[in-house]
Amino acid sequence: MVKSINSRDYNKWRSHFTQGNSLIGFVPTMGALHQGHLYLVQQAKRQCSQVVVSIFINPRQFNDANDLENYPVRLEEDFALLANEGVDFVLAPSAYEIYPVGDTSSLDMSSYLHLAQGLEGDRRPGHFQGVVDVVSRLLNIVKPQKMYLGKKDYQQLKVLEAMVRKEKFSIDVVGVPTQRASTGLALSSRNALLSEEGRASASQIYEALQCAKASALHGDDSDMACAKGKAFLQSAEGVKEEYFLIANRHTMSVNEVGNPKEWVIFCAAYVEGVRLIDNVEVFD
Ligand code: PAJ
Repeated sequence: MVKSINSRDYNKWRSHFTQGNSLIGFVPTMGALHQGHLYLVQQAKRQCSQVVVSIFINPRQFNDANDLENYPVRLEEDFALLANEGVDFVLAPSAYEIYPVGDTSSLDMSSYLHLAQGLEGDRRPGHFQGVVDVVSRLLNIVKPQKMYLGKKDYQQLKVLEAMVRKEKFSIDVVGVPTQRASTGLALSSRNALLSEEGRASASQIYEALQCAKASALHGDDSDMACAKGKAFLQSAEGVKEEYFLIANRHTMSVNEVGNPKEWVIFCAAYVEGVRLIDNVEVFD
């Protein structure tokens, strides 16, 4: 496995080790890797001839300086995990490599802004602008044929699919199911910030989502399904709800949710001061 902090090394590697029929699979990450990330890597390994992973804590997508400061960093462990998965290249660029001094340009999101509003977009102003900026810059370096993203960050997946179409990157975006602990807790780098008790509390987020899903499958409307999920969460110890909403999987609209087949149930909550997000599709 080759690892580097700069795109020059990557370009050299790419021209030496890939040919016309190579299929490069790309997994962008912010590191502190867990089995959820590694599952994306495994999917990429299965479908591609070369797999490239980036590790870059993107300052532009953090709207909260504290959150950025506390974000876990475990570069050496990450490299070892990726080597073990047979990853071909790890790009761990410096901030300067991605955002050269003086380059403050941002992508125009106006044609798909609706996808980036509501849910995370409302609570984290500027977050998705930072995400599309960094991923487009990474795609311009890595030049993959496929990019693997987790449904754990469902809205991010939708926004990035739209960015890829708008910017005419000729790549397939593969959405990968959320990987969970045996308790149902969605795997997340932020779980490392929780105590054992906190992780047990956090697993109730998934139970609340399942409760709303069962209600939707039972034929309840979206308001009722949300109300049941919220009620469950309110009785859960150690969990403070931020939002619990149903949105349409294509438009991300929480006002016009359409057919239950198109519903995704979203939750953001705090446990021990750590902000966690999760979602489930009503029909997967
Ligand atoms: P990060 O949070 O490190 O996540 C990297 C990728 O792993 C994302 O596509 C995310 O959805 C996926 N992922 C995280 N937890 C998962 C889980 N439990 N199951 C399945 N997939 C999971 O998302 C980002 O980084 C950044 O915003 C990034 C896209 C790299 C841009 O900076």
